[in-house]
Amino acid sequence: MDLHGHKALITGAGQGIGRACAEVFASRGAGLVLLDKNAETLDQVVEKVAKMGGEVTALTLDLTDLDRLGSEVEKIRSAGVIDILVNNAGFDRPGTTAKIDREGFEAVLGIHLTVPLFLIQLLLPSMRSSGWGRIINVSSIYGIIGGKGEVAYSTAKAGVIGLTKSVARECGQDGITVNAVLPGLIRTPTIENFMAQRFKDEIIADTPLGRIAEPEEVAKVIAFLASDDASYITGAAVPVSGGWGM
Ligand SMILES: NC(=O)c1ccc[n+]([C@@H]2O[C@H](COP(=O)([O-])OP(=O)(O)OC[C@H]3O[C@@H](n4cnc5c(N)ncnc54)[C@H](O)[C@@H]3O)[C@@H](O)[C@H]2O)c1
Repeated sequence: MDLHGHKALITGAGQGIGRACAEVFASRGAGLVLLDKNAETLDQVVEKVAKMGGEVTALTLDLTDLDRLGSEVEKIRSAGVIDILVNNAGFDRPGTTAKIDREGFEAVLGIHLTVPLFLIQLLLPSMRSSGWGRIINVSSIYGIIGGKGEVAYSTAKAGVIGLTKSVARECGQDGITVNAVLPGLIRTPTIENFMAQRFKDEIIADTPLGRIAEPEEVAKVIAFLASDDASYITGAAVPVSGGWGM
């Protein structure tokens, strides 16, 4: 699962699954381009990865500012091909169908669908030219089972699977694989700080492995999908959920 000689752009790298991806990818030799809107947490990740000897470029920006995102990524890309893209950044706006407002719904679709599509459009041409590329999109188990009070998030995460499979069909002939991971309940700062314990307990009760996962357990699957060891996997939606949602 060696990633030497590759450069990975990871969104939402300041904490949680994105941070774990940065650390696992660095430990396997990938150069990194890390994006997050939180400068403080992103700096901490950069410091840690740099100490591991990794080559890292960091950008603090709101990914939904597509004009800025496009021009900043173009600048970095002109210095060398980015051949791995991890579309990880995301957030939730909980709400039932009756309660969700259009602003919340569109914000969730924007970060999970519009931003990944934009980055894919930006990076695909150079992946195609180099004849090798990996795109891994972070979906969720909610994308296949739906979630009560999670109408925007579940809709967006189902869309991530459709996006993944469509792009996989388009660029399989170009040496590029495109896959999605579907995490279950993962111990990230957002889950620790904002999800009520009773919801966590409900999910764990429905999880055959009977526990929450650590972010590294998702990051290692993403790193596998990014490696040559996963050369014959594309268009897959891989659950990393301890069996929840099977
Ligand atoms: N934690 C879980 O249990 C779980 C389960 C299923 C899916 N996921 C998905 O995994 C991904 C990562 O989840 P997490 O729990 O690590 O999240 P998190 O909230 O802990 O971290 C997300 C990171 O993304 C950044 N981010 C969010 N919006 C941004 C924006 N507009 N511009 C720039 N940066 C932005 C945040 O600053 C943060 O650092 C998300 O797509 C999430 O939906 C998580």
